[in-house]
Amino acid sequence: MTEDILHDASADAGEESLELSLRPQSLQQYIGQAPLKERLSVYIRAARERQEALDHVLLYGPPGLGKTTLAMVIANEMQVNIRTTTGPAIEKGGDLLALLNELEPGDILFIDEIHRLPKPVEEMLYSAMEDYYVDIIVGEGPSAHPVHFPLPPFTLIGATTRAGMLSQPLRDRFGIVEHMAYYTAKELATIIDRSAAVFGTSISENGAFELARRSRGTPRIANRLLKRVRDFAMVNDDQEITDTTVDYALKLLKVDKMGLDQIDHKILHMMIDFYQGGPVGVNTIAANIGEEVETIESMYEPYLLQIGFLQRTPRGRQVTPAAYEHLHIPYPDKEKK
Ligand code: ADE
Repeated sequence: MTEDILHDASADAGEESLELSLRPQSLQQYIGQAPLKERLSVYIRAARERQEALDHVLLYGPPGLGKTTLAMVIANEMQVNIRTTTGPAIEKGGDLLALLNELEPGDILFIDEIHRLPKPVEEMLYSAMEDYYVDIIVGEGPSAHPVHFPLPPFTLIGATTRAGMLSQPLRDRFGIVEHMAYYTAKELATIIDRSAAVFGTSISENGAFELARRSRGTPRIANRLLKRVRDFAMVNDDQEITDTTVDYALKLLKVDKMGLDQIDHKILHMMIDFYQGGPVGVNTIAANIGEEVETIESMYEPYLLQIGFLQRTPRGRQVTPAAYEHLHIPYPDKEKK
């Protein structure tokens, strides 16, 4: 069984086991993503009834929404082992073969950041996914020859923040392709309540909602902020985390009422101050604030688009009137420009 995942959290009380116990173990415990969960539970039941491996699954969406967690839940629900790795960690065909070779029938291989797989490895995956074999060239020079390795039926779960960067042939080999959506404040408040219980911390309903509203729809951020707010509450001798504690802590952490952090502010202010709110190309944004284009595109932009503070136009990104209002900056009359 999935001993990596199910190891006894009480056995070692370190940070790692705390992280593990924050993760839900079943679809029922998994909060949010309701339509996706409903579909998955059907596919899982059907695959189990047929005693087959689940079809390959591609999960895409912004970071921190629980793609890895969901992969582990799927493994638990299927009652199979899961091996987890990341795209850039698989450097050569031999690395992939080593991973695949350890799988038992029905097991899951989880590849995070699958868009960063080296091309030759990706190409090896095609036959592995489609027909459960890989051909590998063994030896060098005149003695080089292909060796055929049959594989057990397995499930590949790929996760990516950038579905658009996946090649068409790879994307086409996933039978189940699902987008992970941002969580509602209500869902995040439920996750925060559950995490607070795991930490042995008490949080009021208002406190949980205030934190939820400022966590950018993202459980990883909610859990991270909860840990910091818990520190403030402890040092202040607060018996319970309230909305006042949350507000105090998040002000110090420079997380605003909408959950925007200093980098979001830097992006918006730069666009407004230097480019009259845009349109600005993403390369220009990245260069101006000293972040990678990929970081902007996967971590910052999606949330700013989601809350309607940025708009995509054919000529680049544009700051919206709602963002000006949030920042208390008068919206420029563009007609006069
Ligand atoms: N912890 C992190 N994400 C979660 C989720 N979606 N449901 C329950 N607990 C979580």
